[in-house]
Amino acid sequence: MTETNCDAQAGGSLAAQPADSYYERHIFFCLNERKNGEDCCVHHGAQAGFDRCKLQVKAAGLAGPGQVRVNKAGCLDRCAAGPVAVVYPEAVWYTFVDNDDIDEIVESHLKNGKVVERLLIPATLGR
Ligand code: FES
Repeated sequence: MTETNCDAQAGGSLAAQPADSYYERHIFFCLNERKNGEDCCVHHGAQAGFDRCKLQVKAAGLAGPGQVRVNKAGCLDRCAAGPVAVVYPEAVWYTFVDNDDIDEIVESHLKNGKVVERLLIPATLGR
């Protein structure tokens, strides 16, 4: 019988290690848009940040298995810090303003594994 990820999360012995991960790093961008007038990441440039990140990751030759994956996400429930993106497996949360911020996240963190301290969101900032 084969153990599944669900078994592992329920207390089984299968522990995913970063070295075994299909991607070395995953960055998720909140692209949630609220049409009811409430604030959301899309109102703060999230789509442009996502598009820039996809472009730069591809241009740097970082995209693909064993490397980096850039993904869309719904609300990550940290709206007060928006726009937000999170990098796994390190679980590092960023905010960003412009292309320079995205380029620094790509070059420093996604390429070289060095956290961009100036773009971190406060640990307690949630929705
Ligand atoms: S709308 Fe982006 S984190 Fe909630």
